[in-house]
Amino acid sequence: MDVFRIEGPVRLSGAVSVNGSKNASLPIMAATILAAGKSTLKSVPHLSDITVCGELLGQLGCKLTRSANGDLCMDSTVIDNYVGDYEIVRKMRASICILGPLLARCGRARVSMPGGCAIGDRPVNLHLRGLEALGAEIHLDGGYIVAEAPKGLRGAEVFMGGPFGSTVLGTANILTAATLAKGRTVIESAACEPEVADLANCLNKMGAKISGIGSPRLTIEGVKELEGVEYEVIADRIEAGTFMAAAAITSSEVQVRNCRLDDMMAVVHKLRSIGVTVEANGCGCTVAADGSVKPADITTQPYPGFPTDLQAQFMALLSLADGNSVIIEKVFPDRYMHVAELNRMAADLRKEGPVVIVAGVKKLIAAPVMASDLRASAALVLAGLAAEGTTTINRVYHIDRGYEKIEERLNPLGAKIVRESV
Ligand code: EPZ
Repeated sequence: MDVFRIEGPVRLSGAVSVNGSKNASLPIMAATILAAGKSTLKSVPHLSDITVCGELLGQLGCKLTRSANGDLCMDSTVIDNYVGDYEIVRKMRASICILGPLLARCGRARVSMPGGCAIGDRPVNLHLRGLEALGAEIHLDGGYIVAEAPKGLRGAEVFMGGPFGSTVLGTANILTAATLAKGRTVIESAACEPEVADLANCLNKMGAKISGIGSPRLTIEGVKELEGVEYEVIADRIEAGTFMAAAAITSSEVQVRNCRLDDMMAVVHKLRSIGVTVEANGCGCTVAADGSVKPADITTQPYPGFPTDLQAQFMALLSLADGNSVIIEKVFPDRYMHVAELNRMAADLRKEGPVVIVAGVKKLIAAPVMASDLRASAALVLAGLAAEGTTTINRVYHIDRGYEKIEERLNPLGAKIVRESV
């Protein structure tokens, strides 16, 4: 098991490039099995979640290789298995995104129910409701979702809204399934995240007929078949936001390259309200902080609201604000595993249900802490950069799920992070 030893406080400077989006790559990888052919995906990051998704697709019959230049080459000519195995799904909740493509390609699917995880419950009731609206017959058997559509899927009007707004992977499942359904599908209250738009653009390049991309209403005209595709996934806005927060928490000026500010207006707005300057330049931006952190209130919401995947990182930043901030987590109300760990580093955080009161402190103090989910772990890295002393982060594998060699990206900027196997 690896740990990080992070020496702080440090100042950062220089430029860092953002990788391709994990959360765009996963549903797009799954969608390629809709086509009985070869696809090449570009800018897919080298992450353990991507490896797990590859293992899962490999079990279905897809052949995957990485070319010398890092492209992910996939051959789904033969898909001869329709079971998404528990042993893999339990490692990654996002595996549920094979359900729609598998059902559309094979007419049946048997995928393990994702259990809960560190950020809370991960229900899939909206996914199943949507697939049933497309004509699938669904039942549970031994912890597996069994979905069958022997006569194929048929287009329908599908409402995907739930108690926390829409569902990103639920929308991905219905969207992919609808591309091969007979007739028209209208998805109302579709997730509008850029990663869903990226999936839709990729599907259209495969021959699908999707309109309303980026809006809460998607219309899909079913087609007979889709073709393999060459497609480059979008840059990872959550990784970009994490690097921006790293510059802010260390009172530094950093160039964040290959980031799509247009996908990050809520994040840029919040950074500016905290007193951080963010200036677009060419294919990225310059982020600069002068040491004073203004308090700010954050409520996480579905896109285009402030992303839940940056809540932990901004909590670390606001821990050093000149005053009190309030954070309300409206997407995953239990997503607060990082609160206790940040308090171990002398932050002053008080959780009241889905609300955390952040009383700003003058400094954070290094301590041994435990990574939990991948974004909470990133928050601990940021806190370690600013804290006095050497912070040890245990269970670094959580970070490796969503950030490719984060220490090799931050150390050239001036961070002092050492990965040790213990
Ligand atoms: C995606 O998860 C992302 N993962 C998550 O990122 C992200 O936090 C989340 O969207 C929200 O933006 C990937 O894209 C691989 P949801 P997803 O379905 O699709 C409730 C990361 O750190 N809900 O949009 O699983 C659910 O409980 C990960 O990279 C239902 O009630 O999330 C939650 O409260 C973590 N019923 C809310 O909706 C359902 O059937 C949003 O969940 C489905 C979801």
